[in-house]
Amino acid sequence: EWKMDSFVKTTVEELKAKIGNGRALCALSGGVDSSVAAVLLSKAIGKQLTCVFVDHGLLRKDEGDQVEAVFGPNGSYDVNFIRVNAKDRFYAKLAGVTEPEQKRKIIGEEFIRVFEEEAKKIGAVDYLVQGTIYPDVIESGLGKSAVIKSHHNVGGLPDYVDFKEIVEPLRLLFKDEVRAAGRELGIPEYLVNRQPFPGPGLGIRIIGEVTEEKVKIVQEADAIYREEVAKAGADKNLGQYFAALTNMRSVGVMGDGRTYDYAIALRAVMTSDFMTAESAQLPWDVLQKTTTRIVNEVKGVNRVMYDCTGKPPATIEFE
Ligand code: XMP
Repeated sequence: EWKMDSFVKTTVEELKAKIGNGRALCALSGGVDSSVAAVLLSKAIGKQLTCVFVDHGLLRKDEGDQVEAVFGPNGSYDVNFIRVNAKDRFYAKLAGVTEPEQKRKIIGEEFIRVFEEEAKKIGAVDYLVQGTIYPDVIESGLGKSAVIKSHHNVGGLPDYVDFKEIVEPLRLLFKDEVRAAGRELGIPEYLVNRQPFPGPGLGIRIIGEVTEEKVKIVQEADAIYREEVAKAGADKNLGQYFAALTNMRSVGVMGDGRTYDYAIALRAVMTSDFMTAESAQLPWDVLQKTTTRIVNEVKGVNRVMYDCTGKPPATIEFE
């Protein structure tokens, strides 16, 4: 695409001119926005950029390794990459906590603490890179009147890190343009096409207390669901689809034994702006295949349910 081709060229030149031989720091989440921002910076200033990827242990299955494969030492880009494996810290902080907003707060604060510790090791930098895109700019400009859920990665980091200026190379782009830029930059399709994933991650897709065991269950179930939906080509019109772990256990039967295991909820929504959403009518055979695989392959699950609720009154996430 010629338009993105010129966006990439111009932006890389502008970043070079602006940053010179300064140093930049980027919080990489593995989402498309921060990935594209990081790659633009790497093209402009190479190793003057350090990317810090905080793995809070609440990512989807294999996601941390995928991010590392792209940005790490064996990856495709010339950057300093630091992966912080912080899951034990997060799980410890979350132990016994069941209230959704408190969980979000803990994850957000711990994230900042981990990032801040890494930033301290790196020392003062000139620029902090943010993957802010145009809709984020508009949204924060309008100001959200009521906090329905706290979004921890909006407006989080700057106070905690020693830097001179923020750079936001994507602040004039819409999401589809960010994806196009990502393709232009050679970022793998599985990162470019990644569905939105909340900052608090699986922490808000596990209702009630978060434990390492529950994270594993929801990761496995979600991976099976995504695989089956993608295999059937049923993901084309979906804004977001994922598995969540309800906090409900119920009675089942397996062989000639009784089970008392968790129920997984599958969600798939169609939406244009994520402010409202409709539950998607996934093909029944896809749901059945997914269900059969989840109950057979994921230990601790004996029931799978489909969420037919729109937003409002439900939200897209479960907490
Ligand atoms: P809800 O659940 O509020 O979600 O209908 C709307 C969209 O926002 C995403 N979401 C988040 N994104 N940090 C994020 O970056 C968060 O804390 C957060 N909470 C929800 C959600 O995945 C959906 O796309």
